Amino acid sequence: MTMSKDKPETRIVSEGRMSDTHFGAVNTPVYRASTILYPDLAAIKANTQPYTYGRRGTLSTQSFEEAISAIEGAARTVSVTSGVQAIALAILSVCGAGDHLLMVDSCYEPTRTLCDRTLKRFGIQTSYYAPDDDITAHLKPNTRAVFCESPGSLTFEVQDVPAIAKAAHAHGASVLIDNTWATPLFFRPLEHGVDLSIQAATKYIGGHADVMLGYVAANEKHAGRLHQVHGDLGLYASGDDCFLGLRGLRTLAVRLARHQETGLTLARWLQARPEVARILHPALPGDPGHALWKRDFSGSCGLFGVVLKPVSEAQLAAFVDGLQHFGIGYSWGGFESLIIPAHIRRTVRPFKAEGPVLRIHAGLEDTGDLIADLEKGLARMTRA
Ligand SMILES: Cc1ncc(COP(=O)(O)O)c(C=O)c1O
Repeated sequence: MTMSKDKPETRIVSEGRMSDTHFGAVNTPVYRASTILYPDLAAIKANTQPYTYGRRGTLSTQSFEEAISAIEGAARTVSVTSGVQAIALAILSVCGAGDHLLMVDSCYEPTRTLCDRTLKRFGIQTSYYAPDDDITAHLKPNTRAVFCESPGSLTFEVQDVPAIAKAAHAHGASVLIDNTWATPLFFRPLEHGVDLSIQAATKYIGGHADVMLGYVAANEKHAGRLHQVHGDLGLYASGDDCFLGLRGLRTLAVRLARHQETGLTLARWLQARPEVARILHPALPGDPGHALWKRDFSGSCGLFGVVLKPVSEAQLAAFVDGLQHFGIGYSWGGFESLIIPAHIRRTVRPFKAEGPVLRIHAGLEDTGDLIADLEKGLARMTRA
């Protein structure tokens, strides 16, 4: 696909629109369909009809996928029902029985479970590397794919993706990335040597905590196989969910700018607090990943980590349980602020924390209200 010269902020608004086909409606409406009719037998024989059966896509999925391809600079995007399904699909489109997958140690925990349990059962062998390792030493003759997640889940290490891609490609291995934190607005994986860009669109692209959706965007070399495996596995995302994904995408730039600003303000405020040991946020100068983040990313989202100084469980609960504006819940990327304790499992290099680690998602609320809430919480923690 040739990249449009327009800025990404323009492309997320203009791409994938099909108003001419929809009586002028600006966003493509929801298509709910299983059976799609052919006009005659000749049409079946010609096999050129763009829509053939609900599972193979409708105008709703096409609009979403075309818009994503334009932003990712991808030859093809396929949509699925969750981020984890996108991760599984991307791996299965490059790895088979007898292959080795090199997985980053800071991956999202269910990615690790998928590899160590189900993929293992099907003969795909996974080993792990630390996010800042030179991967050359980890490559085996049968390494088929190197998987990155940058910044890492819960610990937020930034990876040198171009260097990893260079080493992997020299070895004949494909490069996959879970790019959910940055979204294609703040980091464009395919421009940095990645072959398959994975997104849990459940998070910022959906943006309203009300849709489960994922996608994989592929470069030219990987597009055919990705599409084939997507079809073989019967994967699919509904018209309703693609519609919500596309609607979220239209406002992604303004929402992300606000998530970024509030996230940085909260992170800096917390950094100055005596109860806090350190902040895990690559956009903060002084963070170990800051130089790489500055080189490769054009922004940061609202998700970051806080390492507290040692406190008791009761003190931690006094802080978190009484917060008014931070919901306690998994997931992130919606309009609302969230907080959750981070249970970090690493098998290559243990993560050493001074005290409990919390993950905060900065939502779209007033920043002053959020800070006042955190301030009261920290006072409760100290009193408890
Ligand atoms: C980094 C990352 N990748 C993938 C996922 C999975 O997305 P989903 O919940 O849509 O399967 C998550 C969910 O929290 C995530 O944080």
